[in-house]
Amino acid sequence: MTTLSEQANRRRTFAIISHPDAGKTTLTEHLLLLGGAIHEAGRVKARGEARRARSDWMKIEQERGISVTSAVMTFEYHDAVFNLLDTPGHEDFSEDTYRTLTAADSAVMVIDAAKGIESQTRKLFEVCRLRDIPIMTFINKMDREARDPFDLVDEIADQLQLDVSPMSWPVGQGLNFRGVYDLYTEEFSVYGGGRLGGSHVEAHLSIEEKIQLMEEVDLVTAGLSRFDEAEYRAGRLSPIFFGSALKNFAVADLLTHLAKHAPAPRTQTAKDRIVEPADEEVSGFVFKVQANMDPNHRDRVAFVRLASGEFKRGMKLTQSGTGKQIGIYNPILFFAQQRETVDDAYPGDIIGIPNHGVLRVGDTLSESGKIVFTGIPNFAPEILRRVKLFDPMKQKHLARALTSLAEEGVTQVFKPTIGSQWIVGVVGPLQLDVLKSRLKAEYGLDADLENSPYDTARWIGGEPADVEKFVDSNKGGMAADRDGAPVFLAKSQWELGYVQEKFPKIKFAKTRERA
Ligand code: G4P
Repeated sequence: MTTLSEQANRRRTFAIISHPDAGKTTLTEHLLLLGGAIHEAGRVKARGEARRARSDWMKIEQERGISVTSAVMTFEYHDAVFNLLDTPGHEDFSEDTYRTLTAADSAVMVIDAAKGIESQTRKLFEVCRLRDIPIMTFINKMDREARDPFDLVDEIADQLQLDVSPMSWPVGQGLNFRGVYDLYTEEFSVYGGGRLGGSHVEAHLSIEEKIQLMEEVDLVTAGLSRFDEAEYRAGRLSPIFFGSALKNFAVADLLTHLAKHAPAPRTQTAKDRIVEPADEEVSGFVFKVQANMDPNHRDRVAFVRLASGEFKRGMKLTQSGTGKQIGIYNPILFFAQQRETVDDAYPGDIIGIPNHGVLRVGDTLSESGKIVFTGIPNFAPEILRRVKLFDPMKQKHLARALTSLAEEGVTQVFKPTIGSQWIVGVVGPLQLDVLKSRLKAEYGLDADLENSPYDTARWIGGEPADVEKFVDSNKGGMAADRDGAPVFLAKSQWELGYVQEKFPKIKFAKTRERA
């Protein structure tokens, strides 16, 4: 019998962050292969362009089957249980991506060796930093033309303000890639071959290569930090691996390091308390909601990250806020290709709970109903559009559809105080296409998303009297979000700055957490 804390300590719940095309899908595949979750590469999902081609992606999104099963994948390796969270990898950014990271205890950052840090890597990294999520770095595609390894390492350290600690050092790149030298065991892994120790290195490297390697190793050892688990876990230091996901080179080293050093489930912050994984009471939070495969049934799967206790099928958990008790009879655990009903799950695990729209992103579920987790925010949308309905008789229908899509996190909806047209807000432009196509496909609504006069939104807060005064003098820009919270829609950054200056007592928040 393993105890609750032993089970929790085996869990490694992590996400991969990267810029599109850096190799996230390919790395995922090889991690799943190592974990025995799949048996052949090319199985995870369509790669690269094929996947991102708009029509294809929309089809996937509409069929939903694929993204539901791949939102999290569970596999075992070296006695650790890994829950790999899928951060949607489109060009485009959605709140989903951010929120997925709230469910992760650590992350792997994949970098294309020819490109270094790219825009989306940086954005995702910033989210990890906000939560002090520890990061391991995999510099990918060493089998191709790559930048100088010192350059890459310096760039990571400078641009991300992160202490870096290479675990291995590459010899050559592209056609001349020979392999990597493990800076800790001092063994050499031959690209396309095995792992060699000591004098065998000579057999595979020319004298020039060997001299250069030794010089570089001296520089690295003298100039860069040694791996330090505590520093890594605090999110201050990132170990770096050089490899090739496509050729399955150094992927096992990364996974072994994750099994050994990545943090077990973290304690979670709730209102008035801290929840430890080993706490007996079962608790968790919803970080993602997705429509089920059958659009006619409006079924939803809520993804719950367990935070504490031993979960058992059939358990009754209480939803924070509403106090509603929910019997969890068909929880789902996700493997690469299939979903299975689970009987037990532990902190760090992600279970899917089918429901009819009761569960929302940000909700806490717990046995007592008294735990309320914090830190799962809504983000201020960067794009605001006005919804124009072709058939004005369907306003009510539209309201229901928008509310329901907002619950899934596809969009945010705002009801202006003045006027009757809904404003929808998204973080990335691709979400607009998804919204339009789903309104049509699932709700039979023909609608256009027109430019709105607004540039950005801020949740407002402060002393009731101040808020009232603000609302009175800014009626034209006021709206309510789907929970009725007051939101100020600004026509420009300049206007936002202006009102902020004029109403110094008002807090303008870029994020909002559900009460
Ligand atoms: P992503 O999920 O981060 O967007 O990247 P993905 O894994 O889809 O990889 C993007 C492209 O880079 C793919 O090529 C993939 O084969 C290639 N790639 C990934 N890792 C490596 C690597 O270590 N070495 C090399 N040489 N290539 C790598 P593609 O041409 O877009 O797709 P495909 O035609 O190979 O399917």
